[in-house]
Amino acid sequence: MAGEKIIAVTGATGAQGGGLARAILADKAGGFKLRAITRKPDSDNAKKLAAAGAEVVVADLDDEKSLAKAFAGAYGAYCLTNFWEHFSGEKEYVQAGNLARAAKTAGIQHAIWSTFEDTRKWVPLTDNRMPTLQGKYKVVHFDAKAEANDLFIKAGVPTTFFLTTFYWENLIFFGLGPKKGPDGKFAMTYPMGSAKLAGIAVEDIGKAAYGVFKRGKEFIGKTIGITGEHLTLVQMAASVSKALGIEVKYNEVTPAVFRSFGFPGADDVGNMFQIYQEFEKPFAAARPVEFTKSLNPALLTFDQWLAANKSRIPLE
Ligand SMILES: NC(=O)c1ccc[n+]([C@@H]2O[C@H](COP(=O)([O-])OP(=O)(O)OC[C@H]3O[C@@H](n4cnc5c(N)ncnc54)[C@H](OP(=O)(O)O)[C@@H]3O)[C@@H](O)[C@H]2O)c1
Repeated sequence: MAGEKIIAVTGATGAQGGGLARAILADKAGGFKLRAITRKPDSDNAKKLAAAGAEVVVADLDDEKSLAKAFAGAYGAYCLTNFWEHFSGEKEYVQAGNLARAAKTAGIQHAIWSTFEDTRKWVPLTDNRMPTLQGKYKVVHFDAKAEANDLFIKAGVPTTFFLTTFYWENLIFFGLGPKKGPDGKFAMTYPMGSAKLAGIAVEDIGKAAYGVFKRGKEFIGKTIGITGEHLTLVQMAASVSKALGIEVKYNEVTPAVFRSFGFPGADDVGNMFQIYQEFEKPFAAARPVEFTKSLNPALLTFDQWLAANKSRIPLE
């Protein structure tokens, strides 16, 4: 439709950007249209978006010029980096800089930068309660994103700093679902003590981001945070038990034990949960549920998410 504003979405073929992509596509009368950015226009996810009406454009986060070209003529840009593809804070920071400068070059009027808190404001590098990682971070995938906030400011891009949180999909894809112990019983192993974990359905992040774009200039220059629900692991395990019809316990471990599990990124994820646990209050306060609902009225609770996704949770 003529007059529609283009929103260019990095990560559109993935979980987080995909939620936004589908929210834009679903709102035919919303006044926005989707430009999905990918390195792989022939992938199934890119083809699905194209078939649903998206303009699919090729660009690479490692290549600022390709991003500036992909952003040209767009009103908005959703800026996402994927730490888990390379596990490098430095690389994530460089990619964020490419996004910020490309957004400026293209004259983007509203960028949303998918970011996190800088955990070093809570736990300075000199604090040994958790290890320093890659020489200068505590939670690498948080701190690198937070450090990059300034790159958007310095580039002069009208930006909303969008604090996301733990996807409940981590129970499906990140090995954080119930696992059978030596006693034959299922347990969810987290270093969360009795603190509440701010969790969200990843699709709801995209829907909330769409809500931010729809609110126009209101959140430009602001930091806003979202979540679906704040729940203890005891509460989460009880919900999972009910949804799956099996007994699932919370197996509480210390962050140090979690870090020692040795899977790629275990140290970073262990530090992250330690932050979630020890800084539960400021982390939660930055992510009010009611506010999230105002951006995305369809926001799911954990129980609703489980009802829709329980068959996707692997039981190992
Ligand atoms: N897991 C969680 O609980 C959680 C919570 C909050 C935030 N996050 C953050 O979310 C990010 C990951 O997003 P996701 O979960 O949506 O990942 P995902 O489902 O694996 O998708 C990754 C997306 O990033 C795109 N991408 C990656 N590298 C690219 C590059 N060099 N150039 C262009 N596009 C590139 C991919 O596009 P193509 O492959 O099509 O090119 C794909 O669309 C991470 O930075 C993570 O820290 C995760």
